Amino acid sequence: MKAWICKSFGDQPNLIEWPDPVAEPGKVVIDVVACGVNFADTLILQGKYQKRPTGAFSPGFEVSGIVQAVGQDVQGIAVGDRVMALPDWGGYATRVATDASLVIPLPDGVDFQSAAAFQIAYGTSWFGLKYRANLRPGEIVLVHGAAGGVGLTAVECAKLLGATVIATAGGAEKCQIARDHGSDHVIDYKSGNIRDAVRDITAKLGKPLGVDVVYDPVGGDIFDQSLRCVAPGARMLLIGFASGTVPQIPANILLVKNVAAIGFYFGAYLEQNPAIAQQGMAEILGLLRDGKIRPMISQKYPLADAMDALSAIRHRTATGKLIIDCCDIS
Ligand SMILES: NC(=O)c1ccc[n+]([C@@H]2O[C@H](COP(=O)([O-])OP(=O)(O)OC[C@H]3O[C@@H](n4cnc5c(N)ncnc54)[C@H](OP(=O)(O)O)[C@@H]3O)[C@@H](O)[C@H]2O)c1
Repeated sequence: MKAWICKSFGDQPNLIEWPDPVAEPGKVVIDVVACGVNFADTLILQGKYQKRPTGAFSPGFEVSGIVQAVGQDVQGIAVGDRVMALPDWGGYATRVATDASLVIPLPDGVDFQSAAAFQIAYGTSWFGLKYRANLRPGEIVLVHGAAGGVGLTAVECAKLLGATVIATAGGAEKCQIARDHGSDHVIDYKSGNIRDAVRDITAKLGKPLGVDVVYDPVGGDIFDQSLRCVAPGARMLLIGFASGTVPQIPANILLVKNVAAIGFYFGAYLEQNPAIAQQGMAEILGLLRDGKIRPMISQKYPLADAMDALSAIRHRTATGKLIIDCCDIS
């Protein structure tokens, strides 16, 4: 097979011939058709992600493709099935092995590209907002990085859950994307203070004390400002730190306003809550199959150009989802 291989953290990966994975017991080998690109791909290459492979590895956490082999003890998955999966890493390749428990058959009518762009972004937003932040109809949610991979899906999921969405993004083009995907109000955080802009909006909505839920994949100063425009009883959903700065949360503000800071890590949540995982995945697969959610794939890259996709993420020029076409090895 061909794979982008990183030999040690911090090294530039190279696209090389690499031994095919074998289907060990409990594992499935997939011929990868498409792989979703995530901010976390940039982190794992530097050894800064929660998961740290030992030895040479390829990045890539979410794939779609066709089952090439199944190991002993694997039930319900057969060679030739169209599937999507969440391997620990290894998706920037023509073939990957993964735990059978992380493989889901593709519903009829769902194409490989959408499937590769769907799982992490919608999973994070749906489970985070519905099951961790307990977002309720009529509440106001503030979504940061709203034109990015997870941010854009948070806008869509929050609308489906009946909330009013205030979105923030950097620049006019990104703000328009957030608006086009259903945001009720949009703030360009390149041109002013988030806290004041949010408070102006919530006052007009009859909730002068602020928003009920914050969805934050950015961290840093964005988080600090958000904490100052939340209503009593608000929930701050910590999704990630794309800004590079992990917020230091002042506990006194949480205490005085009865605010909750809630961490959410999608991968671990699925493992820790198998019953909710099954229910929530069925919900979002239903939304996908019914066309109620549709991943915004802004660009597809041939496998050979996968590093350009990572460069777009690093330079903050990516919008929605980027995917790698692993069949295109030109
Ligand atoms: N908790 C989980 O389970 C989970 C799951 C998926 C992702 N995440 C995390 O969520 C974050 C976003 O992931 P993603 O895949 O959506 O990434 P993405 O598509 O690159 O979006 C990140 C957004 O963050 C904003 N941003 C602000 N400062 C930035 C900076 N210094 N560099 C890059 N972007 C910056 C950008 O929007 P503006 O330009 O508009 O500011 C960008 O659109 C990452 O930290 C990731 O690790 C967590």
